[in-house]
Amino acid sequence: MSRQLFDLVARDYDAYRPDYPAQLFDALESAMGQPLLRADVLDVGAGTGIATRALAGRGANVVAVDPGPEVLAVLRSRSTSRVRAVVGDGNALPLPDEMFDLVSYAQAFHWTDPDRSIPEALRVLKPGGVLAIWWNRHDPTVRWFAEHTQRLFQVCEKPPRADESWAAELLRGSPWQCHVATVEIPWSRRMSLEDYGRNLLTQSYVFALGDHAPAVVAEELEAIRADLGTDVIDEPFVTYTVLARP
Ligand SMILES: C[S@@+](CC[C@H](N)C(=O)[O-])C[C@H]1O[C@@H](n2cnc3c(N)ncnc32)[C@H](O)[C@@H]1O
Repeated sequence: MSRQLFDLVARDYDAYRPDYPAQLFDALESAMGQPLLRADVLDVGAGTGIATRALAGRGANVVAVDPGPEVLAVLRSRSTSRVRAVVGDGNALPLPDEMFDLVSYAQAFHWTDPDRSIPEALRVLKPGGVLAIWWNRHDPTVRWFAEHTQRLFQVCEKPPRADESWAAELLRGSPWQCHVATVEIPWSRRMSLEDYGRNLLTQSYVFALGDHAPAVVAEELEAIRADLGTDVIDEPFVTYTVLARP
């Protein structure tokens, strides 16, 4: 999905994309050695604010940066005064040095050029601060979900298998040599099949089918219903998290 597409599907994206499990925010607090309550957090690639709202909900003061004015308009309309939204680029943050206890990238780090975004993130961290980068991946070990995606990828172009361990390797390696830990958190979200179908329509590989996308999704929802005998599903995820301290 190109960056501009996030602007186009901003509202559906915000409504149907998964958020993040509570254990993720517990892991951030233990890596930081302090609670998120009153912490200064920079959320880069904040989009419509799915992660930003969770961080602010734990009491953090959050600066939310994204290059997309439309997604930030959605973020602003749904955020409290704990959140300040700034149009900007993770590769050249429009912010002073040593301001934040935590810099977070939720499903967004792969959109940046790490040769530029890593030194920028480290520059704006306070001494002792933490850079946290995470992605929600689907859990391939869940039988019905594996079969569902196998059917779908006979019709849609299969996205490359997600393996974001490169982010941990980069941060561990020269010249950054950060202390890096990775955490994988399995969880699921319960939703109606109908909402799951709407979420599928915001996925780039389904979106790319153009006019055929609604029929493909409707057929797939029928197949899931026939398989599970229910209209409610538990969509299975693993949140892969990289925690780095300079
Ligand atoms: C998959 S969305 C993630 C949004 C949000 N963090 C969340 O948890 O749902 C990726 C976001 O990265 C943003 N993005 C793209 N290029 C970027 C860059 N160079 N610097 C910062 N953000 C960028 C996009 O505009 C988009 O809002």
